[in-house]
Amino acid sequence: MNNLRLCIPCHFGLEKTLKFEIERIGGENLTVTDGKVTFSGDYNTVAKANLWVSTGERVLIELASFNARSFEELFQGVMNIPLEDFIGKYDAFPVKGYSLDSQLHSVPDCQKIIKKACVKRLEKVYGISYFEETGAKHQLQFSLMKDVFTLYLDTTGEGLHKRGYRRNSNAAPIKETLAAGIIDLGRVRSDSIVCDPMCGSGTFLIESAYKALKVAPGIRRNFAAQKWEQIPEKVWQNARSEAMDMIDKQGSFKAFGFDIDDIAVELTRDNAKKAGVGSKLTVKQQDIRKFVQPEQCITFCNPPYGERLLEIRDAEELYKRLGERLQPSRERPCYIISPHEEFEKFFGKKADKKRKLYNGMIKCDLYMYFK
Ligand SMILES: C[S@@+](CC[C@H](N)C(=O)[O-])C[C@H]1O[C@@H](n2cnc3c(N)ncnc32)[C@H](O)[C@@H]1O
Repeated sequence: MNNLRLCIPCHFGLEKTLKFEIERIGGENLTVTDGKVTFSGDYNTVAKANLWVSTGERVLIELASFNARSFEELFQGVMNIPLEDFIGKYDAFPVKGYSLDSQLHSVPDCQKIIKKACVKRLEKVYGISYFEETGAKHQLQFSLMKDVFTLYLDTTGEGLHKRGYRRNSNAAPIKETLAAGIIDLGRVRSDSIVCDPMCGSGTFLIESAYKALKVAPGIRRNFAAQKWEQIPEKVWQNARSEAMDMIDKQGSFKAFGFDIDDIAVELTRDNAKKAGVGSKLTVKQQDIRKFVQPEQCITFCNPPYGERLLEIRDAEELYKRLGERLQPSRERPCYIISPHEEFEKFFGKKADKKRKLYNGMIKCDLYMYFK
């Protein structure tokens, strides 16, 4: 199908980065709003977006958007959507969603009405009265915001942050999509050297390797829409083989990871191997107190948060140690994410720039040092 309206939600603060990513894969007519980017494309764009977008959460097809203040308006509106263009006779089409500041505030009731309207429409089209729903899953997702109803079809399945390399995780890993956005701000290139002095499960290092070597972040996983009859297999095959051809095998990129915890060191090595970038990483057990910043190196770090891993005082102590070991400059820029409002005080240096970001539900700042 050619003229699809697509939507990719993202972490607040990453919209601009996501916009560039969508432009790079050929998305057109982009609209950026808080927490999402909408754009036009076709099934090739859907496949490419799933494979290549590193900072978005999922790729949705926008089916319709209209005002709905009553169940009747909702029912009639959904009945008018040409669902049969996407949903086959045997396909499963569960419904989920949310409602904010709207008259129709009961999500379970909206779900029931939407499902009923879908069934009513498809009964007419397919001439059947019972839907087995044993075929491919076509997850319908709705949003009701200030009485504006939008219905989406999810092409991704498990969120895009599930790259397929992190089967194991430590206590507080940063989400892959957020790490990718931070790395983009750090301008990692094919010849960059990157380090993380508190690497945990290695997310910054692995995402940096992907960015540097042009590895499509979705290359190691499958997507819900791959099972859809409506999208020819060739579309996915072409997108995958194009992505394989894009990998920069000559890039001199290197990454160094350190962590005080032996288990984290093993975890990073293991995850990097699963991600196919194990040979690019050197990982060692080491306390931040002994850390020496490599020459010409970009540092990314997500130090422990007081409320989650350590007592707040311990975390502040660690920020001080980090400040003693890091000497940011043009040649050795540092990007540190922390929710601590006085991070700069303990770290001992004022950031050249700050950016508000959300790590899950936690409001953070990205402290950028590049001068
Ligand atoms: C929030 S986690 C980092 C998570 C990581 N960004 C990821 O995605 O998995 C903080 C890490 O700092 C490490 N750490 C705590 N104290 C440390 C110290 N004194 N020196 C080095 N690493 C330390 C912890 O073991 C933990 O793995």
